[in-house]
Amino acid sequence: MEIKIKKGDPLKQKTPCLVLFVTEGKVAGSLSKDLDAALEGAVSRAVREQEFTGKAKELLLLHPGRRLPAERVLLVGLGKERKNNRERLRQAAGVAAAFLQGKKIVSFAVGSSSLPLREGELAGAVHALVEGVVLATYRFDRYRTENRDELCPELAELIFLAETQAQVRQAEEGVATARAICRGVVLARDLVNEPGNVKAPEYLAEQARKLAQEVGLQCTVLDRAQLEREGFGALLGVAQGSAREPRLITLEHRGGNSDSQPVALIGKGVVFDAGGISLKPAEKMDEMKMDMAGAAAVLGTMLSAALLKLPVNLVGIIPAVENLPSGSAIRPGDILTSLSGRTIEVLNTDAEGRLILADALTYAQRFEPRLIIDLATLTGACIVALGHHATAVLGNHEGLIRQLIRAGEKAGERLWQLPLWEDYAGQLKSEIADVKNIGGRPAGTITAAAFLQKFAGETSWAHLDIAGTAWEEKGRPYTPRGGTGIGVRLLLEYLR
Ligand code: BES
Ligand code: MN
Ligand code: ZN
Repeated sequence: MEIKIKKGDPLKQKTPCLVLFVTEGKVAGSLSKDLDAALEGAVSRAVREQEFTGKAKELLLLHPGRRLPAERVLLVGLGKERKNNRERLRQAAGVAAAFLQGKKIVSFAVGSSSLPLREGELAGAVHALVEGVVLATYRFDRYRTENRDELCPELAELIFLAETQAQVRQAEEGVATARAICRGVVLARDLVNEPGNVKAPEYLAEQARKLAQEVGLQCTVLDRAQLEREGFGALLGVAQGSAREPRLITLEHRGGNSDSQPVALIGKGVVFDAGGISLKPAEKMDEMKMDMAGAAAVLGTMLSAALLKLPVNLVGIIPAVENLPSGSAIRPGDILTSLSGRTIEVLNTDAEGRLILADALTYAQRFEPRLIIDLATLTGACIVALGHHATAVLGNHEGLIRQLIRAGEKAGERLWQLPLWEDYAGQLKSEIADVKNIGGRPAGTITAAAFLQKFAGETSWAHLDIAGTAWEEKGRPYTPRGGTGIGVRLLLEYLR
């Protein structure tokens, strides 16, 4: 999609559709007299008849006839003024863009005066607008070869009309930032939506190498022989049931001082999770192609961070494996020796994410990170606790957790903290090894995190369980069905 920014008057703009955002209860007041006049009082009438009140996500499409150069005017409700924030705008923009795409209207214009602004916020508002539009019109259609004419045409053009030259510059900044971030989100969504037969661990490695090439990241990939030599026993244990070999992918972005410690991002990369010998039920097992959403978030974030030239050192670490049952798979009761030297009694082979993350956390220490954030579709229990509306956050550093929660609110990717009291670690005591990989029914998300904590050591660390938020079942304002790309916008907001 092309995004053009120029100085101009929306009322003089020739466009297939002029989009206007309006606040609930203030619809008539927020349009200029000229516009209402041009629409022959249509807006005032619609408001009077309560056909349109400006509630969040409400739409009203009007045809102004010859009185305006715009062929159509689309009013988009933002909801109550006191509730307005960037997320509201993102959602409103997303709903509007999806609506226009559905009507095969592929170009539209937005004026700066229609955005809900406080002083000096134009860049942020334009950023939210562009995120909403780009992410709402995303789709994964590369495998649809037939009847492609049934698909709506892609949105081609957004024209943003600023009032002053200063506004043009701010809008340009907002668009550039949003574009860089959206590339990361789209990459993450694509990778999650890609089917399991395509995305072997080596496929993720290949994607990482390609990104590194394009944007100047450093990439290293360890193969099975190297992992064996180093002693990644927990990761290799999970991988041994699949004919497809594991990889340990590392990407580095050096945007900060050469002596400043990096932030380490770790993403669970189980390209397909059948559960192993502790096999999952058949129903919805297909969704377990999304079990590498943490890895996708790390790849997307690294891409965007490089595009944005973020002045920070980052290291992205992805343990990539496939969890399948087979004659060579690990069995319940097996004991693995992790990279840390700690032994793990594997009582359920479906609790595989924490095993590969254990070794990744140990490996991360080699980079002497300032802090570690891991993202993983780790537990079904997380969906029981929080549903699909929040990512669980746990960790050993309250300040880091608070900052992540704040970033999540701004990015529209909410986090909710669960406690990680020492008491829970008791559920992981093993009789014959150092630790076992399951803690029983109670507090499944917490005991999974308690397991990881043992491998994070003294480093400041936060764990994000994205099991409920990585995959969208029904479709939301700017999140179509399928992979959501969760984590990318959150992490970039935190890092920025
Ligand atoms: N990848 C799953 C968790 C998951 C479930 C993610 C549903 C997204 C949607 C994970 O590997 C898993 O299987 N966890 C087990 C742990 C249990 C055996 C302790 C689970 O949640 O059932
Ligand atoms: Mn599993
Ligand atoms: Zn899993």
